[in-house]
Amino acid sequence: MRNIDEHTITAAVLQRLEGCTDARLKEVLGALVRHLHDFVREVKLTEAEWKLGVDFLTETGQMCDAKRQEFILLSDTLGVSMLTVALNHAKPAGATEATVFGPFHTDDAPALPQHADIAGDAPGRPLFVTAHVQGLDGKPIAGAVVDVWQADEEGLYDVQRPELGDVRRARGVLRSDAEGAVRFRSIVPTAYPVPTDGPVGRMLVASGRHPWRPAHVHFMISAPGYQTLITHLFKSPDPYLDSDVVFGVRSSLIGRFVDHAEGKAPDGSRFESPFTTLEHTFVLADAG
Ligand code: BEZ
Ligand code: FE
Repeated sequence: MRNIDEHTITAAVLQRLEGCTDARLKEVLGALVRHLHDFVREVKLTEAEWKLGVDFLTETGQMCDAKRQEFILLSDTLGVSMLTVALNHAKPAGATEATVFGPFHTDDAPALPQHADIAGDAPGRPLFVTAHVQGLDGKPIAGAVVDVWQADEEGLYDVQRPELGDVRRARGVLRSDAEGAVRFRSIVPTAYPVPTDGPVGRMLVASGRHPWRPAHVHFMISAPGYQTLITHLFKSPDPYLDSDVVFGVRSSLIGRFVDHAEGKAPDGSRFESPFTTLEHTFVLADAG
């Protein structure tokens, strides 16, 4: 095929995919080409803008390493992550809703016993969490793996603090007891901005957007026979609940954070300073 112009190039590229034997790859790549070409035509992309876009994506890739996932951040802030979650995790009625995974989970969080203080020396107001894990039938799920992670009082995850090196804090993996519960101590989360020192931050500024996420605690809960649940509990009130930079808030995920004056804490100890409690029931959908 020669003399390809702006009217024939899309069909020409799609024709080259005819030999693709992977049907799903052919479908996804074909749709990507059609949408990309339509995008270029719709905005009448200039060559300078095309170069800017290529440079932006190059810089996004160069910013990525084991602790910094600028591409995930780009997907999150453009709503692509949440759209993918919504399409793939339509839960049956009664099951806890899923939300974005985010870039700050690590695979090396410490395994901790019930009643552990997962915060380590992370600064923040004490938070006592009781999480109940159950199936759609209301029966408790014993032995569920509950992976928790959150930012500290200054809105930073451990991996964002170079001074901590490989020290892990404000995260941990617990197992639910015979009643399907995990109980642990942590700190009250705070709203925080996603990292803005890279190309995604520049994009947010250039487009007049703020970079904030409302305060939340992340949970990933898995148990044999159930779909793994990746979700958060959000704290209310919070100025960013209706403008989360990554579009992750669900009304059903607003947690019951209750403030208490000094006195007896849920773990039986006496607290000389104010603390907060959070109790929530997570309902897992059946696998398959
Ligand atoms: C987070 O909640 O950890 C997060 C999610 C998406 C982008 C940045 C951070
Ligand atoms: Fe987070």
